[in-house]
Amino acid sequence: MSNQPELLLLNGPNLNLLGSREPSIYGALTLPEIEARATAYAAARGVLLRATQSNHEGALVDAIHAARTWARGIILNAGAYTHTSIALRDAISGVGLPTVEVHLSNIHAREPFRHHSYMAAVCIGQICGFGWRGYLLAIEALLGHLGLLSDA
Ligand code: DQA
Repeated sequence: MSNQPELLLLNGPNLNLLGSREPSIYGALTLPEIEARATAYAAARGVLLRATQSNHEGALVDAIHAARTWARGIILNAGAYTHTSIALRDAISGVGLPTVEVHLSNIHAREPFRHHSYMAAVCIGQICGFGWRGYLLAIEALLGHLGLLSDA
């Protein structure tokens, strides 16, 4: 773990399609554009953000396990695995890193199967419905939780 605080920004399945995937729901920005904005937002607060995305549940579990060795916390949009994956939930509780759950859309205003999140109970909080800015809100929330904001 370096002196500069580092956070993992982890995106799950289908989020690599952002920009072209149902833009009326998820917005027009691509994932690299969102990651760049989030990275700049974190950098302005003295924090290094490492962003990664996978469509594979096991790879997401591996990324969460690896974060144990270097990250202070995790920002997670697990995509559809949010609603299905006990393995991801167990990974979050297993590593014990503070995690903020993010969704671009308001999952509670959508189909009933999106209303339940397996992640929510093991995360410090959930941000949804604010599009790409939710990632910035999550950084702010996580840094506040970690006591890393200058106005703490
Ligand atoms: C999502 C919401 C999920 O229900 C969906 O499966 C996604 C994206 C969001 O960011 O709004 O893939 O996590």
